[in-house]
Amino acid sequence: MFLFSQPVPTLCRNGDSLVILDQTALPWQRVERRLTTLEEVAHAITTMQVRGAPLIGCTAACGVALALSADARDPQLEHALATLGATRPTAVNLAWALARMAARLRPLPVAQRAAAAWTEAATIGAEDAATCAAIGAHGLALLRTLPPRAGRPLRIMTHCNAGWLATLGAGTALAPIYAAHAAGLAPEVIVSETRPRNQGLLTAWELRSGGVAHRLIADNAAGLLLARGEVDVVITGADRIAANGDTANKIGTYLKALAAQANGVPFYIAAPRSTFDFSAPDAAAIPIEERSAAEVLEVCGVDGDGNSRQVALAPADTQVANPAFDLTPAQLISGFITERGIFTADHLREALA
Ligand code: MRU
Repeated sequence: MFLFSQPVPTLCRNGDSLVILDQTALPWQRVERRLTTLEEVAHAITTMQVRGAPLIGCTAACGVALALSADARDPQLEHALATLGATRPTAVNLAWALARMAARLRPLPVAQRAAAAWTEAATIGAEDAATCAAIGAHGLALLRTLPPRAGRPLRIMTHCNAGWLATLGAGTALAPIYAAHAAGLAPEVIVSETRPRNQGLLTAWELRSGGVAHRLIADNAAGLLLARGEVDVVITGADRIAANGDTANKIGTYLKALAAQANGVPFYIAAPRSTFDFSAPDAAAIPIEERSAAEVLEVCGVDGDGNSRQVALAPADTQVANPAFDLTPAQLISGFITERGIFTADHLREALA
């Protein structure tokens, strides 16, 4: 089994506090941030200092433990669950992790709750790392079955960031890529910028650090590369997968799935069991997060002196729509790479429920 150790921990416990890698500072700066209160944890999730469905879930679980370390009585437990549950609506891993914490903690005497909460949060994190490894192994087996290419590397397109930054392990969509790289398949990854929050830059940073060949593209370049036959497979992560296989993932995923199907390129979703929501029959039941206009109207980068700069792209009073996720219908998805194997939409329930 390919073993992956995070180059920098995305999230770890330090006594009764948490240390996170602040992803809003990447790819330019490596900032570790200490979180000591429930409010700071909620803020870190809302502002996307931590982001990516599995990592959001693990962070929320730790946030409950942190809150209970100060006061473990019923009102504080319910307040922590509600506060963290309201941070981001689309990734179901958040609600999943909080429901798991609630089921474990509510029946316990107050005196036992804080210790039990830290233990449960650590278990969720350890399971996530193991899940990523299993997704990597199943994904690698899939990549080995792709037809050979003449004169060019195995080329995988991804969107957003579903790598180690988004989990407690190797990632979901990037786990097969890291496994393929370690196995000597020498994959090349096509990474789309992922406007407006540019999570593709996080993916490019990860791949560069890991020595994995990649090219960064503007989001709008994906269709041409797929139409030209320059991509062998598309693999993305997911934030919530409905019972029929309809999938919410980062805005722009749907367009890639459409272009992939139109050009005969397989399109896979890589996701853990905790991202499947069998209570949602289809896409219509998945809430889509709408984020601030500023994310579209402004962009952050560094100037020639390496100083971080936020600059306006359009007048501040421009009307904006900023849905953070879109919905890819199940019929565009070739299969779901999970820790239990690879399944088509019509087999999800029997395989995973
Ligand atoms: O808004 P984000 O950055 O949290 O969105 C992340 C994604 O959409 C990822 O593709 C998804 O969460 C899977 S991460 C393993």
